[in-house]
Formats: sequence, C-alpha cells, structure tokens
Amino acid sequence: MGPSSRPSVSDSTTPPETDFGVYGLGRFGRFYARVLSRYGSVRAYSRNPAAPAPEGVERVDEAELCEQPVIILCVAISALREVLQRLAPRLKPGTLVMDTCSVKSLPSAWMEELLPAEIKVLATHPMFGPDSASGGLRGLPMILHPVRLGAGELARWQDFFEGLGLSVQIMKPELHDREAAFTQGLTHYLGRVLALLDLNPSRIASLGYRKLLEIIEQTCNDSWQLFYDLQQYNPYTREMRERLGSSLNEVKRLLDEHVKS
Ligand SMILES: NC(=O)c1ccc[n+]([C@@H]2O[C@H](COP(=O)([O-])OP(=O)(O)OC[C@H]3O[C@@H](n4cnc5c(N)ncnc54)[C@H](OP(=O)(O)O)[C@@H]3O)[C@@H](O)[C@H]2O)c1
Repeated sequence: MGPSSRPSVSDSTTPPETDFGVYGLGRFGRFYARVLSRYGSVRAYSRNPAAPAPEGVERVDEAELCEQPVIILCVAISALREVLQRLAPRLKPGTLVMDTCSVKSLPSAWMEELLPAEIKVLATHPMFGPDSASGGLRGLPMILHPVRLGAGELARWQDFFEGLGLSVQIMKPELHDREAAFTQGLTHYLGRVLALLDLNPSRIASLGYRKLLEIIEQTCNDSWQLFYDLQQYNPYTREMRERLGSSLNEVKRLLDEHVKS
C-alpha cells in the first residue's frame, strides 16, 4: 500500500498509546529509547544488567516490561524468535508488539506464528540509527508492515512516525528485503570491506574518497552481530554478494585484458 492509498484517519481521533516498553538496550535500543522518551514514557529491559539506560528511561524487569501497552523489540535479529517465544505467554491481550529488525520477511513471519491472536503486531524497520540520525530524524525512512493491525490504528502510527519527521512507507516485507539487500546489505558489506583497507583521511582527498570514508563511519560502528544477521537473515543478500563478487572479477578481467604486462 503506497502513501496515496493510506487509510483515512478521520475515524481515529485517539492518539497512539505513548507508554513504550523497549526490549533490548544494545546500540539501537538505547538510541531509540532516548528518541521515544521525548514523546512518551519509556520503560526498558535488557538481559544485560550493565547495559546503561538513557536519561529519562526507566529500567524495569522483564515482567514489568510485559505490562506495557506497546512493546518495541530492539534485540538482535538472530535472537528474535527466542525472545518472542519467551514473551508470548506473558503478554496481555491487546498489547501491541513492534519489532525493529533490519530485515522484514522472517521477523514478520515469526511474529505472526509465535504471538497469540489477541496480540497486535506491527513490523517496523526504522531505517536510521545513531550515526545516520545524528543530524535529526527529518526525512529518514521508516518502513511499516501491519502484520496484525487494523487500518485505523495503522494510520495513527503512520501519523505518529510522520510527526517525528520520518518519511513513512508501508511496504510488504518481501519487497523491503529485496531492496534492502542492496540499499543496506551492500552498503554494510562495502563498509566492512573498506574498513579492512585501513583508509585514512588525506589532504588531497577527493569528494568521492571522502564519501568512501563516510560509508565506513555509517556502517562500522554497528555490532558485528548486526552485520552477520543482516547478511544471514535477508534472503536476497546472497545474490547481492554473488553479483558484487562477479562485478569485482569482471572489472579485474577487463583491466587485465587492457593492461598487457
Ligand atoms: N544499529 C542500527 O542502526 C539499527 C537500525 C535499525 C534497526 N536496528 C535493529 O535493532 C536491533 C538491535 O540492533 P543493535 O544495533 O542494537 O544491535 P546490538 O548492539 O548488537 O544489540 C543487540 C541487542 O539484542 C540483545 N540480545 C541479543 N541476544 C539476545 C537474547 N537471546 N535475548 C535477549 N536479548 C538479546 C542484546 O543484549 P546483550 O547486550 O545482553 O547482548 C542487545 O541488547 C536489530 O534487530 C537491528 O536490526 C538497528
């Protein structure tokens, strides 16, 4: 569904619940909890007692987190199934669960499979993080897919995220993953490759070179776990990596052919 076919909000005058529960205080969970705390109360849980909560965010235990009307899962993609299995019997009917995973097909299917029918489910991919949003959220993409959510409530959440300045798109998980395999999977892959080259700033750096350094900055502060998960759980990244490998080989072949040694 594109923005033009978005459901009318005229029938939905109540704002979304803004008592958020954030599950997971890794790099993204900490950042998102801080962002959301400007718009509502945020309680957060992490299995790691040493993980610091941002200012204005209350640390709670897992049972207290399950009392929140809106629970936002910010755990590693590879941990999502396990976390859903643990939470499923403990959630109250009517709770809304949102994931934030950077891949969407498998997490959407897992949430549909593992969360009881009386739990509302909205799959989300906030396509930003502490690095890309360092200058603010305006214009950054936010992907939504209503796994189990009525049109009126979806429209209210769309309004909420647009109110944060985000550019919201409602997109099927499969389409998201196809596109993200390149827009995100390729960028992160090249970021890791470039980082291994130990590139340094230079007085004679061209704009293109500075952009390459920016790619490293935008990708390599994230955990290796996130990188591995992006590559493993998006069903289209294997093809992306194969095409990248072929392109590198092809350029080398053309060069070898042209430059006779
Ligand atoms: N980084 C970004 O810019 C970004 C942007 C958009 C969406 N996301 C999504 O946000 C999620 C978290 O990413 P991240 O960058 O914060 O990764 P991260 O820094 O590696 O943090 C992963 C989090 O998951 C928790 N976790 C891992 N295994 C768990 C388990 N079995 N049970 C409970 N908790 C577990 C970790 O807890 P411990 O600290 O105890 O290991 C940590 O809080 C991912 O789904 C990612 O796709 C990230």
